[in-house]
Amino acid sequence: GAIVVGPKLSGDPFYPQDLDLLMTLANQAGVAVKNAQLYAQVLLAHEHLNNIVSTIESGVVAVDATGQVSLFNRAAEQLMGLAAERVRNQPLSVLPECVGDMLSETITGGGAKTQPEVQLSDGTTTRPIICTTSPLHDQAGAVLGAVAVFSDLTPLKALEVERQRAERLAYFEMLASGIAHEIKNPLVAVKTFAQLLPRRRGDDRFVAEFGRVVTHEIAKMERLLDRLRALSRPGERPRHLIDLRSPIGDAIEAMRPVFAEKSAVLSAAMGQSPCTILGDHSELEQLFLNLLMNAHEVTAPGGMVRVEVATSADRAIVAVVDTGPGVPPELLERVFEPFFSTKERGSGLGLAICASIAQTHGARIKATNRDAGGAVFTVDFPVAVTATIPVSA
Ligand SMILES: Nc1ncnc2c1ncn2[C@@H]1O[C@H](COP(=O)(O)OP(=O)(O)OP(=O)(O)O)[C@@H](O)[C@H]1O
Ligand SMILES: [Mg+2]
Repeated sequence: GAIVVGPKLSGDPFYPQDLDLLMTLANQAGVAVKNAQLYAQVLLAHEHLNNIVSTIESGVVAVDATGQVSLFNRAAEQLMGLAAERVRNQPLSVLPECVGDMLSETITGGGAKTQPEVQLSDGTTTRPIICTTSPLHDQAGAVLGAVAVFSDLTPLKALEVERQRAERLAYFEMLASGIAHEIKNPLVAVKTFAQLLPRRRGDDRFVAEFGRVVTHEIAKMERLLDRLRALSRPGERPRHLIDLRSPIGDAIEAMRPVFAEKSAVLSAAMGQSPCTILGDHSELEQLFLNLLMNAHEVTAPGGMVRVEVATSADRAIVAVVDTGPGVPPELLERVFEPFFSTKERGSGLGLAICASIAQTHGARIKATNRDAGGAVFTVDFPVAVTATIPVSA
């Protein structure tokens, strides 16, 4: 900017002290103009922030270090069924307990917290919400207060239910078409022989062949039914606290002779201490038998398969590692589908049964490949929380 001055009314010239005065005046005016501009910018930024906070769909509540509510946006009003004017500048005890408790813990403990699913009521409807609280610090690191951000999970949950329904339907379709396919071939053989029987009942060779084929095809259908039963039954048997290493050990012992036949090595590293989970011994033995049978089939004579158990505080991860060709990357997810098989005589139910048993044990099963070649099937179990019995002195 500039200051324009005219001649003095007295007609005197401008002296150096007049110029000093004018300089000071100009500087002060400059500072005042700058401050006014900054203030306008701050107001604008504040308004912008307020607009964002009031229009976002997540509830936002801020409290100061004493626990008084300083900010309560529109979404928070709707989700909590509380009017902002009745909450602002009030202690956080006016807030619903679930959010209020998290905020007070964040102020006192100073740490951020997330609750993935809490129930929040607005007085008429109770909704599942996800809530995150974070402390607000000044530049020196002192806690100035805390902010809670929470969102309604209802639409997400509805989508999840929809997705699960679609998945179940797809699984059912896959199962139905697989069963139809597996039963059709033996049925065709039985039907053909049965149609020929009235005419050729006097032909002893035909009757003997009839008996052989029909028995064989019916046995095939019985095996299929057994496997289907294993697929549908897991979870029905009672769960006990068991050492996971025990069913794995039994599956390994059962497979030793067939590995020895191929001169293949089957080794295990299962740790020294028990690994307690809640489960059913025979279902888990079946799971590891299926994995070991697959591993055995891809192992060349002289090759090796290794079973490893790694435990942390809350998980037990079992890995069955082989030295076969591995699973083609595009099939890593598909191998768990019922009736998916790349083997000429495979039912494709082995891994589907594994996945079903894993699921009812709260475990996750996954197929990967080793960089060095070979497949790794991991089953990740939650470790059981065992009660500690207090010892009295
Ligand atoms: N260790 C492995 N290495 C490479 N591919 C594997 C391995 N285990 C399974 N697969 C692949 O996954 C497919 C499905 O396995 P799954 O055990 O379900 O059925 P299957 O072995 O073909 O039949 P079944 O178990 O009835 O004998 C197999 O056909 C194979 O292509
Ligand atoms: Mg198999």
